[in-house]
Amino acid sequence: MTSPTPVVELVKAGFAYEDGPAVLSGVDFAVAEGRAIALLGRNGSGKTTLLRLLSGGLRCGSGSLLLDGAEVAYDRKGLTRLRTTVQLVVQDPDDQLFAASVGQDVSFGPMNLGLPEEEVRLRVREALEALDIVALEDRPTHLLSYGQRKRAAIAGAVAMRPRVLIMDEPTAGLDPHGQERLLEALERLREAGTTVVMATHDVDLALRWADEAAVLSPAGLRTGPVGELLADDALLTAARLRRPWGTSVARLLRAHGLLGADAAEPRTPEDLDAWVTAEVAAPGRPS
Ligand SMILES: Nc1ncnc2c1ncn2[C@@H]1O[C@H](COP(=O)(O)OP(=O)(O)OP(=O)(O)O)[C@@H](O)[C@H]1O
Ligand SMILES: [Mg+2]
Repeated sequence: MTSPTPVVELVKAGFAYEDGPAVLSGVDFAVAEGRAIALLGRNGSGKTTLLRLLSGGLRCGSGSLLLDGAEVAYDRKGLTRLRTTVQLVVQDPDDQLFAASVGQDVSFGPMNLGLPEEEVRLRVREALEALDIVALEDRPTHLLSYGQRKRAAIAGAVAMRPRVLIMDEPTAGLDPHGQERLLEALERLREAGTTVVMATHDVDLALRWADEAAVLSPAGLRTGPVGELLADDALLTAARLRRPWGTSVARLLRAHGLLGADAAEPRTPEDLDAWVTAEVAAPGRPS
């Protein structure tokens, strides 16, 4: 069976900052349409660098970047095509926000695409609603709290309606409500067909939200189903990641013979609650 062509793909990608050691080498990373991918790895492992290579902000020192299967040309036309497909929300919102007000900032990208005013207004409204910041539309960006700036920066990317939305630690600094709102917004985007790649240090969030994981460790990049990779103790140790809560609970239940080897593991407290309820109502656990 042949898999469909990834939307964007790094092939044997290598990169080093000027006069620095290699940050990434020989990295293969395919982003297939419609996926939710969590990128994990310790501080300084190269997550931000990888996301910048993927979105064209940095250029591979070796290897290549493909868009819909064709090598990206780093000229004006090639980069414009890449940037209308792939949007990166950077780690620090202060590196992204520059307009005087939230509304102006979010409208900047769509306006730059040359869209009619009506369409720009619609997209801005939609993006502000998605991130729950409609009330902040006229507020000066420099007076916002960190979490509000973070949401405004994400809204700016969402307003571009990219096929691939890449976010560098989007939940860092958001309060629990803000995180839930963001996950809901991402769910709606995914339902609309948007592919999402997110760098995060939160293994629980990754297990709950992603279907694929990409883990950077000194051995390189490993990609695969999130449940499988985040249950691999050797990989977690190499990448200095904690085992997710759900994986630990599943192990405990299995060790006590309460959960079958092939049964789905709980990924959230709500999953566990549903499992307990089902088991109590209709016990069918392996003996
Ligand atoms: N502009 C730069 N110039 C030189 N070296 C850099 C630059 N940006 C990052 N590096 C180095 O590249 C390596 C990878 O950094 P990167 O920011 O990609 O890591 P990261 O996984 O995103 O880390 P974090 O979890 O802290 O965000 C680090 O060793 C870092 O010091
Ligand atoms: Mg980073």
